[in-house]
Amino acid sequence: MLRSKIAGVGYYVPERVVTNDELSQIMDTTDEWIQERTGIQTRHYGKKHEETTSSMAAIAAKIACERAKIAPEEVDFIVFATLSPDYYFPGCGVLLQRELGITSREAGALDIRNQCSGFLYALSVADQFVKTGMYKNVLVVGAEMHSMGLDFSDRGRNVSVIFGDGAGAVIVQATDNQKQGILTTKLHSDGTYAEKLAFINPGAHGGYHFKKMGEERDFGYPPADTYGEIFITPKMIADGDYYPNMEGPFVFKMAVQKFPEVIMEALEDVGLQPSDINMLIPHQANLRISQFVQRKLGLSDDQVWNNIQRFGNTTAASVPIALCEAWEAGKIKEGDLVCLAAFGSGFTWASALIRW
Ligand code: UT7
Repeated sequence: MLRSKIAGVGYYVPERVVTNDELSQIMDTTDEWIQERTGIQTRHYGKKHEETTSSMAAIAAKIACERAKIAPEEVDFIVFATLSPDYYFPGCGVLLQRELGITSREAGALDIRNQCSGFLYALSVADQFVKTGMYKNVLVVGAEMHSMGLDFSDRGRNVSVIFGDGAGAVIVQATDNQKQGILTTKLHSDGTYAEKLAFINPGAHGGYHFKKMGEERDFGYPPADTYGEIFITPKMIADGDYYPNMEGPFVFKMAVQKFPEVIMEALEDVGLQPSDINMLIPHQANLRISQFVQRKLGLSDDQVWNNIQRFGNTTAASVPIALCEAWEAGKIKEGDLVCLAAFGSGFTWASALIRW
């Protein structure tokens, strides 16, 4: 049986660095609050109207291809994870294909909508295609241009200060070396709390889920027997009800429970222990969450890679960016056990163990 290995990694963050102090000039927040609650010092924002989720992804993807020693034309399939796509549809996968100039092969492209766990879901999909021999080179990407869709008024401060832009990419390739590659992936979800961390409008929900939950929320929909105005209503625009929302403390509590659980599940699956991990790459949601997970698993600082201090939370991009950074820093070497883990909106959570 073939195995899947990560043959090349790449990442890109836009040039513009945004400090906490800069944000405190436009909303009611402070550098002290942001650092104390999240660990974030800076984040990067893309160049408005010149960079997009797919354009950033293309830069990361080219680097990953180069390191995997393949031309972009050799990519057989694209799996693209993002919650901030360029368009509502079509997805970023096909836009990336066009950015890379590889449309002539007509290779398939798939978009994944699993937010913070998106990259791990995408990696798992690629793993299945590669180890069954269906594809040789799968390009897996996580990318976000959050800065185009955040609420920079005081109302959005609990969300907006956290997120940053960027892209990470890997090439998943087949290997018959049974000692190398993706050992296991674990994927989970529980839609019970879908609205606790969500970007609700614009959408085609029509208030359905809220009515079902017994929550009377007026979205300003026109009467049901009229046509149109389904995705976004004038009331949503007037209320500014078209931004992401998060019940932070609730999400935090779930995250610190699910991260260790899903990591242990993967380790148990392959008969290994936390002490066997050479590098844990947690989704960069909050430095306090990563530190909690580190303590719970008894890992040293050397065994965990954190970069949320510099990049903020880049959602689907955070795991591949951190993976690539750790690799570039020489912290991931051949034979190392690398553990990737994520938790986020959905709720969805996932892990992967890779023998590098
Ligand atoms: O990546 C996907 C998964 N996401 C996560 O895992 C995020 C999980 N949650 C968190 O990381 C944290 O809950 C946050 C960083 C979002 C918030 O930290 P917290 O310690 O849970 O703060 P809180 O939401 O309980 O808010 C505490 C106070 C509130 O004021 P009052 O009610 O105590 O007067 C907030 O209004 O902090 C206030 N606050 C702020 N103050 C200054 C909220 N945001 C800000 C802000 N600056 N940016």
